[in-house]
Amino acid sequence: MEPADFYSGIVVDAYAKLKSSTFEAEPYLEFVRTHGQPALEVGCGDGEPLLDLCAAGLEVDGVDSSMDMVERCRTNAVARGIATHVFHQRAESLNLDRRYSSIYFAGPTFNLLADDETALQALRAIREHLTDDGAALIPLWVPDPTPDDELGVTRSTDDGQGIELRYTPLSETYDRERRTRATTSRYERVAPGGTEVADREWIIHWHTPRSFSALSTDAGLRVVGIIDDDTNEPASNASTVSTATVQRL
Ligand SMILES: C[S@@+](CC[C@H](N)C(=O)[O-])C[C@H]1O[C@@H](n2cnc3c(N)ncnc32)[C@H](O)[C@@H]1O
Repeated sequence: MEPADFYSGIVVDAYAKLKSSTFEAEPYLEFVRTHGQPALEVGCGDGEPLLDLCAAGLEVDGVDSSMDMVERCRTNAVARGIATHVFHQRAESLNLDRRYSSIYFAGPTFNLLADDETALQALRAIREHLTDDGAALIPLWVPDPTPDDELGVTRSTDDGQGIELRYTPLSETYDRERRTRATTSRYERVAPGGTEVADREWIIHWHTPRSFSALSTDAGLRVVGIIDDDTNEPASNASTVSTATVQRL
């Protein structure tokens, strides 16, 4: 299975129930209000925070590589009476008819692009979809290794209809040189009729300010800034969560 297809099948059910954070709309609302509409959320999943931005009156499209996520997002949009376009495409081969004043990833979805070559292709595609004065916002995350005492430990939740959804990180490789963490993860859906199991390789590929800037330049983008989310100062090699803003060179 390719990394872009990670969020499919029972993983989508488990993700919706087990996700530890909800995505705050505010930083993305502010970004789109600053840089303009229309906007595009890349890796929009089931619609958080995309649908909140639409509900606030902004014109925002979504794109995701998982058809299961796209369907959920469209269903959630209809349930909230929201008109938006949700496309089924990969960030690295984005090919849409429109150009956008604002393009953003919500949360560390850029880290799901599993190597520098894929990340570069995504940045090139983003460049092609930006208006001349548009901007893209890309959150960056440097993960720690999963602690040993969490490997093999299951997190579980009930879907409210008698189905248990389970997530277990089984083993992990953490490669600082390749800036890649690969976690073999087991997802289970335990229903009265039987248990479905999916073992997936969850890959996080991270970037330093320097490596991200080099990729951006290669992609024809200018880094306006990379800000450490914790200190609100320019990110350093010690930053673990930061936000990059890029524009066309
Ligand atoms: C961590 S989820 C976040 C989703 C959303 N913010 C939410 O809460 O529902 C990451 C999303 O990125 C999508 N994704 C992963 N790789 C992708 C790629 N190469 N191109 C586009 N979307 C991708 C996944 O299918 C998934 O829906």
